[in-house]
Amino acid sequence: MTKSIKNICCIGAGYVGGPTMAVIAQKCPEIKVHVVDINAERVAAWNDPNVENIPIYEPGLSDIVAETRGKNLFFSTKVEEAIDEADMIFISVNTPTKTYGMGKGMAADLKFIELCARQIARVAKDDKIVVEKSTLPVRTAEALQDILHNTGNDVDFQILSNPEFLAEGTAIDDLLDPDRILIGGDIDTDKGQAAMKALVDVYAHWVPEAQILTTNVWSSELSKLTANAFLAQRISSINAMSEVCERTGANVDEVARAIGMDSRIGSKFLKSSVGFGGSCFQKDILNLVYIAKTLGLEEVADYWEQVIILNDHQKRRFAKNIVKTLYNTVSGKQIAMLGWAFKKDTNDTRESAAIYVSDHLLNEQADIIVYDPKVKTEQIYADLEYLGHHSSEEIRRRVKVVSSAKEACHNAHAIAVMTEWDEFKTLDWADIYEKMYKPAFVFDGRRILDQLKMEEIGFKINIIGN
Ligand code: NAD
Ligand code: UDX
Repeated sequence: MTKSIKNICCIGAGYVGGPTMAVIAQKCPEIKVHVVDINAERVAAWNDPNVENIPIYEPGLSDIVAETRGKNLFFSTKVEEAIDEADMIFISVNTPTKTYGMGKGMAADLKFIELCARQIARVAKDDKIVVEKSTLPVRTAEALQDILHNTGNDVDFQILSNPEFLAEGTAIDDLLDPDRILIGGDIDTDKGQAAMKALVDVYAHWVPEAQILTTNVWSSELSKLTANAFLAQRISSINAMSEVCERTGANVDEVARAIGMDSRIGSKFLKSSVGFGGSCFQKDILNLVYIAKTLGLEEVADYWEQVIILNDHQKRRFAKNIVKTLYNTVSGKQIAMLGWAFKKDTNDTRESAAIYVSDHLLNEQADIIVYDPKVKTEQIYADLEYLGHHSSEEIRRRVKVVSSAKEACHNAHAIAVMTEWDEFKTLDWADIYEKMYKPAFVFDGRRILDQLKMEEIGFKINIIGN
């Protein structure tokens, strides 16, 4: 018999847990949704009386939080209490690339997942449906099952895989109107089917049932890695062509448009850029490469690894081009970085190309002035310090963070457009030009500027893929 869900717990109040649970709370007013996290600072920010101070910037998110928080959406650090009360527990904790030991630099680090499983097993006194929301290697549910059933209090745990496909910057639209919802479960048992039905019923509050796919657990887990690998592969493919375009006089947007009109190819995810960033693509492909290697599938591993190799090459060649164009030296020159987030409409900087390009420019002793409308100054320093290539003292001496694009470009030798924030398209470029060193160079890593107009003003503009 299907259980009707009254109480949801979500472990992990991050970029996935926060927005996903806010939307579930809004669409399912009869369900109590309790989002818990061990990071007390993050939880406090989610509970900030001024809803604009919630820790994640996503268009539309603060309105939904304002509507639901304190009614049926709650944020706290009371992990055990939330587990105990819940019928259904989502695990939305981070699964970063391992930085130590076996699989270092490739495999997903599942220690946070295991900790959650052990805590659920210890606390649960009645049957629970445990939902993998985090992106996990195929067959992780098996390990979860093992831990839950061997250490639990003799209660029944049904494990479902329900990967999240939202993209940052459009998370709320993606959650409200998803292309599909994917639910993997134990389709061979009545209990498994009932658990899947319970989760289908949650989503069916707002998603048409035809768009809710149910599969076996392994297909669901693997589909998430596959989707990210395919999406990232398209970007590396068009970025590979961007370099060919630059050498031949072809224009990469024209090529993308021409191929994208072929309905078999499709037009999305063909925007050439300085390289993809974000917390998912690189991590998930490396994880896929690791899985393929452990299965002895060397050719499969090499095939997907090339997507990352090309992406690293794209970031590196963008930085090298700046140095080469500025007469082979940027030492002591001021480079304005417009944008630090890995894409527009998010404050997330994980794996942002801006970090790697800046690191390269720091190697060349450039002075860097950063402006990003949503990223905090300390985050920018933390991102550079994390790489460990330059001392904190050097980073703080050479990198300055300012509060407008105009300020960043004042007295600059060159500007690098790193994030496609809309406001960069409509800056007073003539005024910026007046206040720069000449020749005034612009490097557009996002293809958002109009080459002819910029050249008319006097800029020497370099657009990736032109
Ligand atoms: P995140 O780092 O923003 O959030 C994870 C949160 O989990 C952190 O706040 C952390 O403190 C908390 N946490 C870790 N261990 C915990 C524990 N034992 N108990 C309580 N809280 C704990 O990560 P995210 O971006 O939300 O990603 C979460 C998962 O979702 C990852 O597997 C990721 O691959 C996947 N995913 C992310 C996106 C995205 O756009 N960010 C999209 C789809 C899937
Ligand atoms: C991605 C997936 O799209 C999403 O389905 C999954 O759940 C999480 O990972 P996200 O990383 O948030 O989402 O953003 P996405 O829009 O995919 O962009 C990733 C990176 O690729 C960004 O740096 C973006 O600027 C870049 N990109 C994207 C391109 O360079 N060109 C494109 O055509 C599209």
